[in-house]
Amino acid sequence: NWTMEEFISKEIKRIQTIVGPDSHVIGAVSGGVDSTVAAKLMHEAIGSRFHAILVDNGVMRLNECEQVLETLNKHLGINLTVVDASDEFLEKLAGVEDPEKKRKIIGNTFIHVFQREAEKLTAGHGKDIDYLLQGTLYPDVIESISFKGPSQTIKTHHNVGGLLDNMKLKLIEPLRELFKDEVRKLGTIMGIPDDLVWRHPFPGPGIAIRILGEVTREQVDIARRADHIFIEEIKKAGIYREISQAFAALLPIRAVGVMGDQRKYDQIIALRAVTTTDFMTADWYDFDSKFLKHVSNRIVNEVDGVCRVLYDVSQKPPGTIEFL
Ligand code: XMP
Repeated sequence: NWTMEEFISKEIKRIQTIVGPDSHVIGAVSGGVDSTVAAKLMHEAIGSRFHAILVDNGVMRLNECEQVLETLNKHLGINLTVVDASDEFLEKLAGVEDPEKKRKIIGNTFIHVFQREAEKLTAGHGKDIDYLLQGTLYPDVIESISFKGPSQTIKTHHNVGGLLDNMKLKLIEPLRELFKDEVRKLGTIMGIPDDLVWRHPFPGPGIAIRILGEVTREQVDIARRADHIFIEEIKKAGIYREISQAFAALLPIRAVGVMGDQRKYDQIIALRAVTTTDFMTADWYDFDSKFLKHVSNRIVNEVDGVCRVLYDVSQKPPGTIEFL
């Protein structure tokens, strides 16, 4: 039974004892609350001996990399390198439509790029990087012990295995006793902006699993701009926190529309917004019809290549939250 303040000072001391006065630590950040809170704790404990890496995989949300850099580096003072590997990811994704293949390509490419950057850091330093920071939460720990399904956490654990072995890194997981709501409290106490603390979960394979056909730069651009409008309007309406997860998906089919006196034959955006407590079951969010009308008009008018907008009214089960 501890307070959050006690947890912070205890954990910082624990990290300092483990890492010692000379060692360096690396960690990947994604812009989500877990990796950011873990990075903030690490930064408080060892300052610039912590090196955060953000891999731009080309399928993040609109302006996300810039925002993460702004918050983590400028605002929180964390030593962050943004690696633009979008060409590398998009080249490997070319021609791939199968969702599991997309996931595998993105997971493997991520590990590859991250390891390369970590080795660059080690070489450039002349000092040893001995530890890898991970923002693993308590439910992730339990899940990876009790459940061997294809969940994101288990994939993450599998993936870092390579880094731990190849680079001889040791794992530090400062959040491993905490639940999500505790991590959010911690983040708020540590001065992480509300926007980031309450951010909806975003899958590692990002927009690639929200584009139902081939992932190309053009398709990413359309999906990401539609998504941005949807989320911006949700925030403006003051309902962002009522919704557990919301996004736009881009369908690989075309339909006819008219704009002015022009006949169009363009793609279709499907909007999805759900409420859930555990992400195992979920219900669709019951928007006001005026809200949907406004979002739909904005997307069709502002996003070239889209002429229709649908709203997904599928519950989970059977419909998963993501489309792929
Ligand atoms: P589904 O679509 O299975 O999603 O109802 C449940 C939750 O898991 C997220 N999700 C993923 N997260 N990598 C991730 O990091 C993935 O491959 C992945 N697939 C689904 C999804 O966004 C939702 O929060």
